Amino acid sequence: MDRILCPLAALSIALGFSLASSQTATSLRDAATRAGLNFGAAVSGQSVGSGGNAAYKQIVSGEYNTAVCENDMKWQSTEPSRGQFSYAGGDRVVDFAAANTMKMRGHTLVWHSQAGWVGNFAGTREEMLLAMKNHIDNVVGHYKGKILEWDVVNEAVADGSTDLRNSFWRQRIGADFIDSAFVYAHRADPAALLVYNDYGAEDMGTKSNGVYNLVKRMKENRIPINGVGLQSHFSGSSIRKADIDKNIKRLAELGLRVSITELDIVDASLSTAPWSDLMDVCMANANCTAFITWGVYDAMSWRSNGGSCNCLIFDAQMRAKGIRAALLASMAAADPAIAERRKSFGMETSRIRIAPGLSAHAVGAGSGRYPTPFLTFGGGALIDIQGRRLEQRPFLPDP
Ligand code: G3I
Repeated sequence: MDRILCPLAALSIALGFSLASSQTATSLRDAATRAGLNFGAAVSGQSVGSGGNAAYKQIVSGEYNTAVCENDMKWQSTEPSRGQFSYAGGDRVVDFAAANTMKMRGHTLVWHSQAGWVGNFAGTREEMLLAMKNHIDNVVGHYKGKILEWDVVNEAVADGSTDLRNSFWRQRIGADFIDSAFVYAHRADPAALLVYNDYGAEDMGTKSNGVYNLVKRMKENRIPINGVGLQSHFSGSSIRKADIDKNIKRLAELGLRVSITELDIVDASLSTAPWSDLMDVCMANANCTAFITWGVYDAMSWRSNGGSCNCLIFDAQMRAKGIRAALLASMAAADPAIAERRKSFGMETSRIRIAPGLSAHAVGAGSGRYPTPFLTFGGGALIDIQGRRLEQRPFLPDP
């Protein structure tokens, strides 16, 4: 035995790597777990349920330690008609994740798209807030303790702008719909990590400045937010690595986690460079806690349009591309000290003290007459975010 091991050890030293590090390259899942990274893919209840393809399920459980529903937890799926909740698809994914000791991301609670009936709901501001609160209470409550991190609000910043998108949420509630959504989600599952998720805000630019300003203000106002999701739907054979790094670092300064939430890179050249560049950036930052691809293999991607998009780690026949080896190499080279910090970065959940017996209807940023962030309550009290009662009436006027 010694005779076999010694020459092997000598050879590995000569080649500049240890036996231990060569053992890390068994699967993407193993490499990610060692790097403290939540490495995942978007799936559907149908694809991982009892009728799903066995080879596909083997890839999902073997290569990933995290799962997210591509569509099954969206409003349209979970509350298809007002007050009627349906969890079949999401439950299948949660069950699959639990059976395979995988973590779950939740996607998504408040979005202007795939919103079903609520997109056409013509209620007052108060009714709209209650509809949003009821949805969040039910969905987050149903999955309480099972979701590591929720995409609470999705895509609220306008393209090419630092301003919010003029969505039906903003029109009917006001810009503070975002704050309210986070407060409701926090109250429904105080242990869940809460994330603002958007696209086109990965590197430095106008929209990412808008996202940065938004989450900075939320942090300053003690709104319970733990992280930012950078969707990362890219095209081409390169990414703006230095600017993505800069963006992730400025979010770290706010104490925020960053999740790469919906990665796919449409690139006919099949270059591995943008993939390893993005993973290298993630590995260099302890607050880059998740790296999630939007789908598992090319034929199932939303970007494939019935063909094959060359956009994911596995090809149309579910065979691993060179991207897999590139990601393994990048993760294997990760600094163990950063990996250790990554495991718990930004996991402290905010404490919002709310007077017993009262239920929050809305939360505002604080301005003018009410300079501190505030919560309004149906019972007639206006309470600041530290739980101090400001006054009984009148209620906060609508914006
Ligand atoms: O479920 C119905 C099915 O019953 C029906 O037969 C079929 C006919 O077209 O449609 C099915 O619904 C489709 C659904 O995907 C599930 O496959 C919708 O039409 C289709 O619009 C929907 O597309 C999803 C898209 O979000 C909706 O905007 C994509 O799968 C999903 O990948 C995509 O994901 C979004 C993220 O949530 C947010 N960020 C952008 C990302 C890409 O658009």
